[in-house]
Amino acid sequence: MARILVTGGSGFIGSHLCEELIRRGHDVLCLDNLFSGSRDNIRHLLGNPYFEFVRHDVIHPFFAEVDHIYHLACPASPIHYQYNPIKTIKTNVMGTINMLGLAKRVKARILLTSTSEVYGNPNIHPQEEAYWGNVNPIGLRSCYDEGKRVAETLMMDYHRQNGVDIRIARIFNTYGPRMAINDGRVISNFIVQALRGEDLTVYGDGTQTRSFCYISDMTDGIVRMAEAEGFIGPVNLGNPIESTILEIAERILSITRSRSRIVFSPLPSDDPERRCPNITRAKERLGWQPKIALDVGLSNTIAYFKDKLNRSVTVGREAP
Ligand SMILES: NC(=O)c1ccc[n+]([C@@H]2O[C@H](COP(=O)([O-])OP(=O)(O)OC[C@H]3O[C@@H](n4cnc5c(N)ncnc54)[C@H](O)[C@@H]3O)[C@@H](O)[C@H]2O)c1
Repeated sequence: MARILVTGGSGFIGSHLCEELIRRGHDVLCLDNLFSGSRDNIRHLLGNPYFEFVRHDVIHPFFAEVDHIYHLACPASPIHYQYNPIKTIKTNVMGTINMLGLAKRVKARILLTSTSEVYGNPNIHPQEEAYWGNVNPIGLRSCYDEGKRVAETLMMDYHRQNGVDIRIARIFNTYGPRMAINDGRVISNFIVQALRGEDLTVYGDGTQTRSFCYISDMTDGIVRMAEAEGFIGPVNLGNPIESTILEIAERILSITRSRSRIVFSPLPSDDPERRCPNITRAKERLGWQPKIALDVGLSNTIAYFKDKLNRSVTVGREAP
């Protein structure tokens, strides 16, 4: 049994990760400021003797005796990370320094959940880890993209200078139950719109592609990376099967049997046209690749949102 700190543990990916780590027999300390996460995501874990929640902001130092740190804390959807861009940068830079400082002091291994956004609007396709990216340093998304790039730099510098045991995972679009209802991410947006009978908003002409990885595949990849020996990354974790945004909208309409229409809106600035991981390294070094088919993942996610929407009608408001 390891003592594991999960920052951002009450968010979408973090809550599934906490669950998976407890399932594997570990003792989990979940740290979160509840900015984009929710108590609802971890409510079922609160009575578990191997789970503890601490409300804390990672821009402030934190001390705990732990063996491993999974450092996820950072809002991931554009609506959340652009709400207060300076805070987003601080979270990425100061939060990562604080967690690396802790890892150094207690000699813990630390994994950073970086992002495919470090590739920006990529000039090569699919993206492999050796590609340095094409990122706008002064755009609206820079607080997140450049924030994560600095976080990766910090990880490497603490590793080279202080011998900290690091892992860098570059995560591509992930979806599944516990995505926030109003976070503006494409899958949650479309599902909620379809279930409410509202028009599905496609930005641009819908030919831009994304590749979507189901949450259970992602948590499996993250844990494999954290437990890998002799491999610090970076490693791409994502689903290499590409779909156009329009195809996704159509699949969701078909599974929900919704009568909603598809409408088109202008593309936001810096929105990448294509995004798809090359996962050769993850296959070779971690023996990992996604297993869950899009239709299966979408059906599970739709079932989650149906239940969530029904409950929010009954209860009247969402818990923070
Ligand atoms: N979901 C994706 O598709 C995706 C893709 C690439 C990378 N990632 C990365 O994975 C991680 C988790 O993403 P997610 O989708 O679960 O997002 P999320 O917003 O659901 O979770 C992030 C969590 O971090 C917490 N948090 C934010 N700022 C904090 C701070 N200053 N102090 C403490 N807690 C803070 C939030 O409250 C939230 O619970 C993030 O680091 C994100 O950059 C996610």
